[in-house]
Amino acid sequence: MASEEPGEIERAGVPVTLRFEDGVEQRIVVARDEFVLDAALRQGIPLVYQCRSGICSTCVATVVEGAVAPAPGRAVALLASEIAAGRRLLCVSHAHAASVIREHYPSTLIDRRDSPEELAQGESATIRANVAAVEWPGATVGKLAIEVADGAGFDFQSGQYVRIKVPGTEQWRSYSMATTPRELPRLEFLVRMIAGGAMSEYLTRARVGDALEVEGPRGAFVLRPRRASHIFIAGGTGLAPILSLIDALRRRSGPRPPALLSFGCSSAEDFFYRDEIEIRQWWMPELRVRLSGGRAARAASGLLRGNPVEAIAVDDIGGVETDAYLCGPPAMIEAARRHLVGLGLNPERIYAERFVAS
Ligand SMILES: Cc1cc2nc3c(=O)[nH]c(=O)nc-3n(C[C@H](O)[C@H](O)[C@H](O)COP(=O)(O)OP(=O)(O)OC[C@H]3O[C@@H](n4cnc5c(N)ncnc54)[C@H](O)[C@@H]3O)c2cc1C
Ligand code: FES
Repeated sequence: MASEEPGEIERAGVPVTLRFEDGVEQRIVVARDEFVLDAALRQGIPLVYQCRSGICSTCVATVVEGAVAPAPGRAVALLASEIAAGRRLLCVSHAHAASVIREHYPSTLIDRRDSPEELAQGESATIRANVAAVEWPGATVGKLAIEVADGAGFDFQSGQYVRIKVPGTEQWRSYSMATTPRELPRLEFLVRMIAGGAMSEYLTRARVGDALEVEGPRGAFVLRPRRASHIFIAGGTGLAPILSLIDALRRRSGPRPPALLSFGCSSAEDFFYRDEIEIRQWWMPELRVRLSGGRAARAASGLLRGNPVEAIAVDDIGGVETDAYLCGPPAMIEAARRHLVGLGLNPERIYAERFVAS
């Protein structure tokens, strides 16, 4: 706990209150040379994070009082306008005075049974899984289906991701579930094929039954419990967690809000999962869909020319109360965020998962 003596405060650090979406508050002390995320983990408060180096923006939160500032040159994943609006990446930010920080997820998102040591090391127990199927829904996309071992106790929320160890290597890669917890013990992933990539190469030789090590779940890209309109924007394999979120929305009880999915690939040839999207429109009449096939898309392809961000117009925004979920490459996320804010969306209601190299 922080001492009340000014000199002691100077030595011990400053008090910071972390306010979660469900109203829970946690008080921590952040030492002068310590990052806020490190301080929280050291004191046993589980926060979501991934890269711990200011790149992925998973740890973003909003400062509502006090003084929390990024270390110079470290908050590379935030726009200047976001920093001006109080957004901070807690993995690279110091607290310079007593502060209050609002987290954009509930305190229950991370299982508090994880020990502080595990959290501090960014590790949690790995579980065993086996490859159930490998398919090729698109020219540059692999679908990996796995089954987690019986009794592993694995659970997750739609929109989250796991880390998978590439068999035969010591390398781990992050992949978002395209399925929902209802399909457990089966999990499906959409993997973009990258020439020479460790996981990409593995998929080309994967066999049904192969043993895998999986760690997680991780991430805070989950559906908020609100009934506002929803906009989903996905680029390439960024469709994976978006499909999971749409399926979770579909299964919610009570009346469903209007929703719009804007999905795009870099070319019509790379396009995939048209059937998967069509069937969801059939299941959810309130789901409108825009499919974009890149700059060279022809009308005959049935795809819009351009990208999934340009496909959103001002009439699509159901007011500032609309919730937007974005997933794909960082450049698409930045463009989508700018575009949506320009169209009048509340920046605090825009949630994103960036597929940076993991
Ligand atoms: C939270 C999170 C969730 C993710 N979920 C998914 C997902 O669901 N589906 C998915 O396809 N990917 C996802 N990714 C990205 C994924 O984790 C891997 O980084 C990606 O699949 C490349 O792995 P690889 O082993 O095939 O290639 P690597 O061996 O990692 O890379 C091979 C070469 O390609 C470069 N490279 C790697 N990634 C990229 C990139 N995105 N753009 C340009 N060059 C790159 C590397 O620098 C390297 O030179 C996610 C990333 C994060 C952080
Ligand atoms: S965990 Fe902070 S930016 Fe990645």
